[in-house]
Amino acid sequence: MAVRTIATIPFNDQKPGTSGLRKKVTVFQQTHYLENFVQSTFDSLGDVQGKVLVVGGDGRFYNEHAVQVILNMAAANGFSRAIVGQNGLLSTPAASCVIRKYHAFGGIILSASHNPAGPNGDFGIKYNISNGGPAPEGITEAIFANSQTISNYKIIDEATISLDVIGTQSLGGMTVDIIDPVDDYADLMAELFDFDAISALLTDESFQMRFDAMHAITGPYAKEILENKLGAKAGTVINGTPLTDFGNGHPDPNLTYAKELVDEMFSDNAPTLGAASDGDGDRNMILGANFFVTPSDSLAVMAANAQSVPAYKSGLTGIARSMPTSQAPDRVAEKLGIESHETPTGWKFFGNLLDADRATLCGEESFGTGSNHIREKDGLWAVLFWLNILAVRKQTVSEIVGQHWLEYGRNYYTRHDYESIPSDIAKQLMVDLEAKLPSLIGRDLAGKTVGYADNFSYTDPVDNSISSNQGLRIGFEDGSRIILRLSGTGTEGATLRVYIESYEDDENKLHQETQSALQALISATDELAGITSRTGRTEPTVIT
Ligand code: G1P
Ligand code: ZN
Repeated sequence: MAVRTIATIPFNDQKPGTSGLRKKVTVFQQTHYLENFVQSTFDSLGDVQGKVLVVGGDGRFYNEHAVQVILNMAAANGFSRAIVGQNGLLSTPAASCVIRKYHAFGGIILSASHNPAGPNGDFGIKYNISNGGPAPEGITEAIFANSQTISNYKIIDEATISLDVIGTQSLGGMTVDIIDPVDDYADLMAELFDFDAISALLTDESFQMRFDAMHAITGPYAKEILENKLGAKAGTVINGTPLTDFGNGHPDPNLTYAKELVDEMFSDNAPTLGAASDGDGDRNMILGANFFVTPSDSLAVMAANAQSVPAYKSGLTGIARSMPTSQAPDRVAEKLGIESHETPTGWKFFGNLLDADRATLCGEESFGTGSNHIREKDGLWAVLFWLNILAVRKQTVSEIVGQHWLEYGRNYYTRHDYESIPSDIAKQLMVDLEAKLPSLIGRDLAGKTVGYADNFSYTDPVDNSISSNQGLRIGFEDGSRIILRLSGTGTEGATLRVYIESYEDDENKLHQETQSALQALISATDELAGITSRTGRTEPTVIT
């Protein structure tokens, strides 16, 4: 099959964000748009001759088309083998697992995570390296630089692979292996967790669980693992068939968007455990009966109970969290006498720490938790971790978290998102607030004294690379924090994220309502940054 070189001109907006390139489907549908980005990616990787590439995505609209294009371009660029999930599907954690298991050179994952899908929704593409994790900034910057100078791309004469047929096919000299998207991932989970204990719990008459796959990629994974392998009752997994438009929903597992699950978990006959995952399967939300576990607390509880899980029985080397994530996990690390790390937002910053064995568990406040088993956050893994803890401790979710607070104190925590703000207003708000920061140090705000105020900059302890401009933070002497940053994953205007945290260890004050407990800091933030006065918004779009 002939390799064709197609002339093209650069698009100026192909800069990867927090997690790859995300744009409206209609943007990706422009002639050469996808091809330019894929060629720019291949060109940032050095010699790809004879290398193995993994390809798969969350199944959203445009997924199959993109997979076919990528395969034709991979063959033309000299890859010798592509490993592809059946029907072009692979959850983000499963892609990471497959890259590692088959020692692939890297992988392309097609996903815009929890962003809505369909012809008018979003699409996304990201590259993961051979450790299975998101490409580090050196590569994403090279991709963007290439996209600014690209003049042609390579593709073979159009050929179509039968994505639904498991087995080996050939494409312009490249081998294409279509694999079951669930098998390798399910095998890995069985190695990590005590499946016998979890199975005993799930088949116990008194235990009820609900898992909401939100019409997205985790449906087949959850059905296979929870219902088929572990024996959970039929109907445990709801919204379990992946749809190209995610049922017109917004598959972000939080209290706002996972409404069906949340309604059931806060009803009179709520199941013991509720969980949800997002569009591409890397996020998770954990709920007990009438109880929400914040993602930061979830990471802390997992770390404190890691000895219950076979894979982590021998101990953790460290815990890493993104900067806006609450400091609850740090307290566990301190008690365990292990390292704790604070990284910028985005999973790519955990890769070096995991590779160097300086962290075993990682997490982000944005409903992401994971470990060194792969190099992505992993929704279903987190759910299995909780099931393993519940099977060992034989207590309810709220009892386990309540005891955790008694032992470590509670980090009250909330995130307020203001979506679709005009970009210029959002940027000016950040510029003006940053200018004020030095004058805040030592001053009182909301009855607390400001200890530090800066723009977070991170020096990677493994390769010493520096990532600056990662969010404005105001830290108080009592450990409370206010953090503001602009989202790097949105596709419409700007999203302002405000993160508020305060610490409480008085055992009589551990069970307050979160928003009330944080009210003084919330009001002080609005006054300081001028959110309402500048944006006209009187309340956030989403509170988590
Ligand atoms: C958001 C989350 C971040 C997460 C990323 C990808 O990024 O805040 O923690 O890693 O999605 O799932 P943001 O939009 O804030 O840049
Ligand atoms: Zn995701």
